[in-house]
Amino acid sequence: MRRSIAALCRRLTLGVYVVGVAHEGKRDAFTAAAVAPASYRPLVLSLAINPEHHSYGLLRDGKTFTVSVLARHQIDLATRFGTSRACAQDKLAGVDWYPGRHGAPILTDAIAFLECLVAGQMNAGDHRIVLGRVVHGDLVNRRAPPMTYAETGNLDGSMDLYPSSFADG
Ligand SMILES: Cc1cc2nc3c(=O)[nH]c(=O)nc-3n(C[C@H](O)[C@H](O)[C@H](O)COP(=O)(O)O)c2cc1C
Repeated sequence: MRRSIAALCRRLTLGVYVVGVAHEGKRDAFTAAAVAPASYRPLVLSLAINPEHHSYGLLRDGKTFTVSVLARHQIDLATRFGTSRACAQDKLAGVDWYPGRHGAPILTDAIAFLECLVAGQMNAGDHRIVLGRVVHGDLVNRRAPPMTYAETGNLDGSMDLYPSSFADG
C-alpha cells in the first residue's frame, strides 16, 4: 500500500528547487519540491519544510528565502543540496552563488530565481507550510527545461516516509 500511495502522490507534478535561507551572516540551502504558487495578487508562494532541517532555524529567524529553479541536467545540485550526507559540510562551498537582496543565497546557474519575504507559517503534520511574498525574481535561461520531481526518483528517500494506509496518522 505504501508503494501505491507513493506512486499516487508522485503523479502530482512538481519542480525541483534549491531554497536559500540566511540569518545574521549564516546561510544554508536545501533542495525542495514542495514549492507552489499560492496567490497572484500579491504574488505569494507556499513552501513545505521539515522543521528538523538545519535550514529551518535560519528561515524562521531570517524571515526570507530564495527559490533557485533547477534545470533538468542539474541533478548534481539537487543531490548536493538534498541529501543529509552533505549537511555536516557547508553545502554552498564550491558552488557559484550570490546573496539576494535580503541575503539569502541564489544559485548562479539556476534557470530562474525568486526572492521571498516570509508572510506566514502554519503546521502541516511533520512539515511547516511557509508563505513567502515574492519581492524579486528573474528568468535567467529561457531555453533549459526545468527539472521535475519525478525525474529525481527516490533521491529524497520519501518512499519510507509515506504512510502505509490513508488512515495512518
Ligand atoms: C528532490 C528532493 C526534494 C526535496 N523536497 C523537500 C521539500 O519540499 N521540503 C523539505 O523540507 N525537504 C525536502 N527535501 C529534503 C531536503 O532537501 C534535505 O533533507 C536537506 O538535506 C535538508 O538540508 P538542511 O538540513 O541543510 O536544511 C528534498 C530532497 C530532495 C532530494
